[in-house]
Amino acid sequence: MLLLFSKCKKDKMRKLPFDKPWIEETAKKWPTPFHVYDAKAIRENARRLKKAFAWNKGFREYFAVKATPNPHLMKLLKEFDFGSDCSSMAELILAEKVGNVGEAIMFTSNDTPAEEFKKAWELGAIINLDDITHWDFLLKAVGGTDGSSGAPAPLPKELESHVLCCRYNPGPLKGGNAIIGKPEEAKYGFTREQLFDCYAKMKKAGVRRFGLHTMVASNELDPEYIIDTAKMLFSLAWEIHEKIGIDFEFVNIGGGIGIPYKPDQKAMSLERVGEGIRDAYAELVEAKGMKPIRLYMECGRCITGPYGYLVAKVRHIKNTYRLYAGLDACMSNLMRPALYGAYHEIVVPGKENSAERKVYDVTGSLCENNDKFAIQRELPVLEPGDYVVICDAGAHGHAMGFQYNGKLRSAELILEEDGSVREIRRAETLADYFATLSFPGSEFADIATTL
Ligand SMILES: Cc1ncc(COP(=O)(O)O)c(C=O)c1O
Repeated sequence: MLLLFSKCKKDKMRKLPFDKPWIEETAKKWPTPFHVYDAKAIRENARRLKKAFAWNKGFREYFAVKATPNPHLMKLLKEFDFGSDCSSMAELILAEKVGNVGEAIMFTSNDTPAEEFKKAWELGAIINLDDITHWDFLLKAVGGTDGSSGAPAPLPKELESHVLCCRYNPGPLKGGNAIIGKPEEAKYGFTREQLFDCYAKMKKAGVRRFGLHTMVASNELDPEYIIDTAKMLFSLAWEIHEKIGIDFEFVNIGGGIGIPYKPDQKAMSLERVGEGIRDAYAELVEAKGMKPIRLYMECGRCITGPYGYLVAKVRHIKNTYRLYAGLDACMSNLMRPALYGAYHEIVVPGKENSAERKVYDVTGSLCENNDKFAIQRELPVLEPGDYVVICDAGAHGHAMGFQYNGKLRSAELILEEDGSVREIRRAETLADYFATLSFPGSEFADIATTL
């Protein structure tokens, strides 16, 4: 059925930092699908974030590496002194490679293996414990024992200089965020009682530098939720200070600032969050006579999400019980729609203003029926060869890619401020896919080399 495009929808249409001729030119060198990040917009947003929190001396954003684990992007963010929030060995290594070491790393992990604690410790990272048992586990890991003797772990050197932090899970004391769910159902963090216990233990052991962390939101668009989270941590920092006698150097309110994936959603005002937390700081920290506390964040999504695009091409149009536009991209390139039913805006460059529209399921080529970028979406009339741009793919996009069904992950590019394009990750090849079959004694060891 042919539909007509309304003026109201046209006004809300997403503006891209590139056009169809740019895609045609770029695709000659980097065939679709590819991810492209808009460097200018990422920098502008980073400046805005820093400005909103400039009132807090020592404010720092630790970019959640898991959102877009590309060292080129991490390096770009380092221009703004963004640290790295790491949760795995690979992420620690990426941070180290871009020169984010020491307290430029916030190691917020869970179910953590000993070797990762050890690596984080050696890098001098801020270590954010996820559970009360992890304190002893950490001591064993960095003290070099496996704990099998049952003897208390030896205290590692430099305990006094290291910054230790605990992740608070408020449980029923904080209402659920719509996306991350109820805190009491989340596997992360300490209960209130455990938190007091652990800080007391750490103090007794000789730790002198402390932080306090929580992460209770995901893709939250209400600034008040983030402000309330900061209030909760400021109050808790005061209570722990009063009871245990420690001064917190920082509180980390985690990530979770959302982005407007849907056309009718509004971006969270970073300025409002900054002001709201400043007022809370005046009331709950300064007025109580607490020592200055640095505010830390570990956002991922709002740092790169809106500034990354998945560019793909229509491969087939199929007309059965529904109309399908099959792309050369699939959920290996962006699995949020399949995983969460997430909405991503789709733009068809060159046809943005086309009055004639049809309703499509926009699919990939994976043998899974949920491999769909959009379901029953009204779009300009599509033909094989049309380019489509899937918006807001800059965080948890390429990063979540996988190889099921022999599908390969695409290249990542940066659109520089001067208009040039830089490759920041090449596309995977079949040789990459087969590489793990190549090991001594494997019957198929040469599979990657005989392609
Ligand atoms: C511990 C932690 N910190 C930060 C983030 C980043 O969250 P977001 O990308 O929503 O800002 C996540 C995301 O899963 C996380 O688990």
